[in-house]
Amino acid sequence: NNLLVSEEKSVSKSVQQMSIEGDEPPSQYIVKGNSFGSKDSCALIPIPIIDVSLLSSEGELEKLRSALSSAGCFQAIGHGMSSSYLEKIREVAKQFFALPEEEKQKYARAVNESEGYGNDRVVSDKQVLDWSYRLSLRVFPEKVRRLSLWPKIPTDFSEKLEEFSTKVKSMMDYLLRCMARSLNLEEGSFLDQFGEESLMLARFNFYPRCSRPDLVLGVKPHTDRSGITVLLQDKEVEGLQVLIDDNWVSVPTMPVAFVVNLGDQMQIMSNGIFKSIMHRVVTNTEKMRMSLAIFNEPDPENEIGPAQGLIDESRPRLYRNVKDYGHINYRCYQEGKIALETVKIA
Ligand code: SIN
Ligand code: FE2
Repeated sequence: NNLLVSEEKSVSKSVQQMSIEGDEPPSQYIVKGNSFGSKDSCALIPIPIIDVSLLSSEGELEKLRSALSSAGCFQAIGHGMSSSYLEKIREVAKQFFALPEEEKQKYARAVNESEGYGNDRVVSDKQVLDWSYRLSLRVFPEKVRRLSLWPKIPTDFSEKLEEFSTKVKSMMDYLLRCMARSLNLEEGSFLDQFGEESLMLARFNFYPRCSRPDLVLGVKPHTDRSGITVLLQDKEVEGLQVLIDDNWVSVPTMPVAFVVNLGDQMQIMSNGIFKSIMHRVVTNTEKMRMSLAIFNEPDPENEIGPAQGLIDESRPRLYRNVKDYGHINYRCYQEGKIALETVKIA
């Protein structure tokens, strides 16, 4: 097609090298007009906690509806995965990131691709870069996997990722049914829009120490393009912040909980009732941080849109139907536009 896709540019030194050598972050990484990292700059607003095992009760279901329509995120407990199991998953991720750079480069992300191991993708000279490196892999549907990018070391990496994503997928499917019920919709209203071939992507994030956490971000403020995102946070190192009522709020670490947040496509499907939350990651001078995000989004072949039951005179349709929102989102990112705004009905 004739879409304008800018050429990916290269940076002179990787975050990996700079963090090892203790470099001052170069200007490309400096976020202008801000100072982060100080605890006091954060509001003390509690992040809702939802017990997944109680969602068959009306009370917990109402808590879910309320959390997603205000904060747009929650910490999920009672999901059936033990803390020792989650620790094993973190361990596999840690072992991968601890490999020599040369070994990790075997899985390097190719230019203009999104899958594989590497740094932030540079598409514009004006872009402020993230102080992080990551490994992104598509997991479902199975036919889209690029197994050549799945690490061979640690040896149980693939098996663990497959098993963990399958468990997370079934929790997500259940949550999507609960979300529909909480809005008095047919259980399958959202799940059906995702379809049998919904896309699941796993992103392992690594944030090395940074000498200027006041000037640099691990991940710039963004909303996820997904439908739903499940995040396994670092066991002890905080860093994720969410924007609630114009306040940046730190999401506390809870070793046995997942952070669940909605992405733009659920904001569309819920006709704006559920929020795709703005979030960012701050860095720190002392400790490295790791996280594993699992994103699920509707099959790009499916046309998605606000559920019929959520459109009426008091709440007119806010978004048009869209196909392949992922692509729209990427193009907007390159052009510095807000993707959700472009699908809004004027
Ligand atoms: C992200 O939102 O992209 C990363 C979240 C995290 O590392 O906590
Ligand atoms: Fe995100």
